[in-house]
Amino acid sequence: MIKIENLKKSFDSQVVLDGVNLNIEDGKITVIIGKSGTGKSVLLKNIIRLLEPDDGKILYNEKDMTKLNEKELNKIRIKLGVLFQDAALFDSLSVFENVAFPIIERKIIKNRQKIKEEVKKTLGLVGLDEIYDKMPSELSGGMKKRVGLARAIITKPEIVFFDEPTTGLDPVSSMAIAHLIKNMQNELSTTCFVISHDLSLTFKIADNIGLLDKGKIIEFGDKKSFLHSNNTLVKNFLNAYNIAGDEYEK
Ligand SMILES: Nc1ncnc2c1ncn2[C@@H]1O[C@H](COP(=O)(O)OP(=O)(O)O)[C@@H](O)[C@H]1O
Ligand SMILES: [Mg+2]
Repeated sequence: MIKIENLKKSFDSQVVLDGVNLNIEDGKITVIIGKSGTGKSVLLKNIIRLLEPDDGKILYNEKDMTKLNEKELNKIRIKLGVLFQDAALFDSLSVFENVAFPIIERKIIKNRQKIKEEVKKTLGLVGLDEIYDKMPSELSGGMKKRVGLARAIITKPEIVFFDEPTTGLDPVSSMAIAHLIKNMQNELSTTCFVISHDLSLTFKIADNIGLLDKGKIIEFGDKKSFLHSNNTLVKNFLNAYNIAGDEYEK
């Protein structure tokens, strides 16, 4: 679905992405892991073009996104959903207004009653009911993420991007988010691209895993091959997080 070739991004003299190559497979959950500050968020922002790549290609269904103008890009952006690290809800809008925002702004649905039904259905998908009138400040961290997820998927995107979906959540809420991502893949066949340093989340949801280190994806493969990689950096990374194998293999 998305093919990234030789993607480069620097900030002044700091090279963050130094030739990233990556395939995001259709219908699969791809997780990119890596230490804090290695450039995972920068990678995600380049793919959705919130940051301008210095060099390289981002092929979305064969179209090079780096070559598109703003109008063409917006057509593609409609097919992308994003859940940012802090859920990025609008604090002055209710849950209902937050979730309805993308379909109202993009005029995807105009009928007020239909909008209501769609918001209700989508909140149901993320396991939230009857909280339409609440304000973001009244919600727990886990609930905010769910509302953010509902907002990201209400437009029925082909691919959803997640930046650290479980950071700051307690283990129970983290598990719930992992289930939601899996369910979304199963029920809506959504392609998911997740960046995380939460290895327990990673091994719960990933079909494919890549390790970003010093500006490059130094290892990429399905979950099983990743766990058994002979790459010293991968082994060190797994060891550092005490990931010892079998319980994650399923
Ligand atoms: N907009 C920006 N301007 C300058 N430097 C940035 C910007 N965004 C990120 N960086 C730098 O790029 C590096 C990678 O950041 P980031 O992608 O956020 O790391 P990660 O998500 O892996 O923790 C960091 O050193 C960060 O300071
Ligand atoms: Mg980050």
